Amino acid sequence: MNYIVVLPAAGSGKRMRAGHNKLFLTLRNKPILIHTLEVFEQDPNCAGIWLAVKPEERMIIQEMLDEHHITKVKGMPAGGEERQHSVYACIQAAEHEADLILVHDAARPFIEPAVIKKLAQKASETGAAIAGVKAKDTMKRVHNHIIEETVDREQLWIIQTPQAFQTDILVKAQKQAEQDEFLGTDESMLVERLNIPVHVVESTYDNVKMTTQEDLLMGEAILQKRQQ
Ligand code: C5P
Repeated sequence: MNYIVVLPAAGSGKRMRAGHNKLFLTLRNKPILIHTLEVFEQDPNCAGIWLAVKPEERMIIQEMLDEHHITKVKGMPAGGEERQHSVYACIQAAEHEADLILVHDAARPFIEPAVIKKLAQKASETGAAIAGVKAKDTMKRVHNHIIEETVDREQLWIIQTPQAFQTDILVKAQKQAEQDEFLGTDESMLVERLNIPVHVVESTYDNVKMTTQEDLLMGEAILQKRQQ
């Protein structure tokens, strides 16, 4: 099932304290952004990549793409204030290019091709499918450091990206969110507001988002394990 992918890459990465875009940090001498792009570059079902970037970083990113022979990037629209705005900029540029769109954080370089395949399949059949893993820890709702409730872990999933949608559904959800000035933390929230069922596809625990310094250590360990 062919799809296009939208990669928001226009964050500032404050929590990483890198002093610049965290996606330029390297794991095994290769920028995180390139690790992520290579997964899609190598997937024959990926028909194109739209990358949301900060305008002042467009040139340096283009140089990285050339150096690492990334050929599938079709557009680099300017990202926005929030991640949702960055994704929307890409959707507006790419909505007529494919019937299926995957949105994936550029900061998640370890996504497995098998999970991408399952997501694309499920979303093309049903409309919407997102990656997640089951919660492993005991989960409690806490207010002011006091426990209000222990939540049934069986029903809790930790949600990741990619999030895959039939294009018309995602476009409708984005437009509605814009009209309502609703800001979500992922695309699924926008689709859930339309009362459209969103399926969760089991992903892997190593599909971590490079957010803080500790994640880089984990990233190096994941790469080492995969190369053994
Ligand atoms: O900050 P966080 O890691 O949660 O961001 C997730 C992804 O969204 C990153 O790849 C980041 O570059 C991107 N992003 C963006 N535009 C923003 C904020 C984040 O493209 N305004």
